[in-house]
Amino acid sequence: MDKQHLVIFDTTLRDGEQSPGASMTREEKLRVAKALEKLRVDVIEAGFAISSPGDFESVKSIAETVKDSTVCSLARTIPLDIERAAEALKNANSGRIHTFIATSPIHMKYKLQMTPDQVVEQAVSAVKLARNLIDDVEFSLEDASRSEFDYMCRIIEAVIDAGAGTINLPDTVGYGFPEEYAETIGRLIQNIPNADKAVFSVHCHNDLGLAVSNSLAAVMKGARQVECTINGLGERAGNAALEEVVMAVRTRKDIIPVETKIDTTQIASTSRLVSSITGFPVQPNKAIVGANAFAHESGIHQDGILKHRETYEIMRAQDVGWSTNKIVLGKLSGRAAFAARLEELGTHFESKEELNEAFVRFKDLADKKREIYDEDLQALVSEIQLHESNGDQITLENLEVISKSGQLPSADLTLSYKGESYRSASEGDGPVDAAFKAIEKLAKSDTELKLYSVNAVTAGTDSQGEVTVRLEKGGRIVNGQGADTDILVASVKAYLHALNLIENPDRLHPQLDGV
Ligand code: KIV
Ligand code: ZN
Repeated sequence: MDKQHLVIFDTTLRDGEQSPGASMTREEKLRVAKALEKLRVDVIEAGFAISSPGDFESVKSIAETVKDSTVCSLARTIPLDIERAAEALKNANSGRIHTFIATSPIHMKYKLQMTPDQVVEQAVSAVKLARNLIDDVEFSLEDASRSEFDYMCRIIEAVIDAGAGTINLPDTVGYGFPEEYAETIGRLIQNIPNADKAVFSVHCHNDLGLAVSNSLAAVMKGARQVECTINGLGERAGNAALEEVVMAVRTRKDIIPVETKIDTTQIASTSRLVSSITGFPVQPNKAIVGANAFAHESGIHQDGILKHRETYEIMRAQDVGWSTNKIVLGKLSGRAAFAARLEELGTHFESKEELNEAFVRFKDLADKKREIYDEDLQALVSEIQLHESNGDQITLENLEVISKSGQLPSADLTLSYKGESYRSASEGDGPVDAAFKAIEKLAKSDTELKLYSVNAVTAGTDSQGEVTVRLEKGGRIVNGQGADTDILVASVKAYLHALNLIENPDRLHPQLDGV
């Protein structure tokens, strides 16, 4: 079978960031973008330049750094949006403006309050303006899966004539069914006279758990770009998961007429990076990147695997970059080996001081934990960068917890805030509860705890625990994180990180209202 290229368009940094609590700083976005480039995605949607000065700067710095992937900014069909996107992308090696407007009757009538004719007119002028500023323009028909077929034919033909090279048909509300959605896309490609001048793309949300199925079904009918996110992050139930789409295409090459250029061995580390930066843990049974994705529990399965791997495995763990707990460093490893391994994992230190600080922490960890794995290094770097990029004001100086059977646990801690030390103690329903209550006695943050989760970074009881704490205040949600071999320390660090974030205005959600 002659394979065609399937464009992998990653929108972790734009739609993925629309997951409540997943907002990232500029530095964090840059780290993810570099990992995506290493993963060899074709297009990185870096953000929505008009939405905030922070998002503009993120798109700009990603455009200036990434060389091998196209860098894209979202823009409404409004001149100011398009000009701002073009400005952010002006130094990109390869840049794309992605402009969108809703085309379903319900969106046009209630949200946009525009007639279908006005929508066509605005879409065409937006695409023309964008094409005057950049060569590569994508046009999205928001809520395409609930739009009328003839109307879609009309607007698509017009925007292709105006210069759009990619036509994206989002299932914005996750309403489509594979056969129905794919059939519509196939018919559009067949019926639109100038369809051969554009790449047809899909962008599926996962409200019914069908995002990946819908995307793949559409590929079978001619779509040649899939928009997706690492770990399936995204608005509400998320978007199609990149790792699932890519591995499905690779594993079922016998039936699918396309191939991607993704370096699949980078999947696991990219997934980990996104999870630790956003604070969204990956569920153990998540396809491809979940901790259990390649673990065989039942005796019959284990027996089969030992006799012949393919009895129960359709992919190899190492093909998606599961390093299967390779010990990489230990107590005696030097600074050069440490820096070199981190460089291989995609982390580069801007200054000697940063490297030194990380190395001190590494030595500290190596004192507590004999064998250091890639996962440990990633957790350590995420910890440093997360806390530093946010300029944490409140930090932990000391923690003492007493937990005896038959007695209420208690925590006694000292925090540092703007250089001053503050001490507090409390009892609680458990040791973590006691520690959080002690913090709140000082912080009086008026936040609500929405999520507390602990993940072991590696196997074994000496593993670092990576804790996520989600707090909400006045409708604003943040995820704090902490990692340590002591999960109580990790929990306190995560709680303090969340408190620091909630006070940081850079973390305001970058998306605009009413788009
Ligand atoms: O889901 C959606 O419709 C979108 C568009 C902006 C592409 O994210
Ligand atoms: Zn979307």
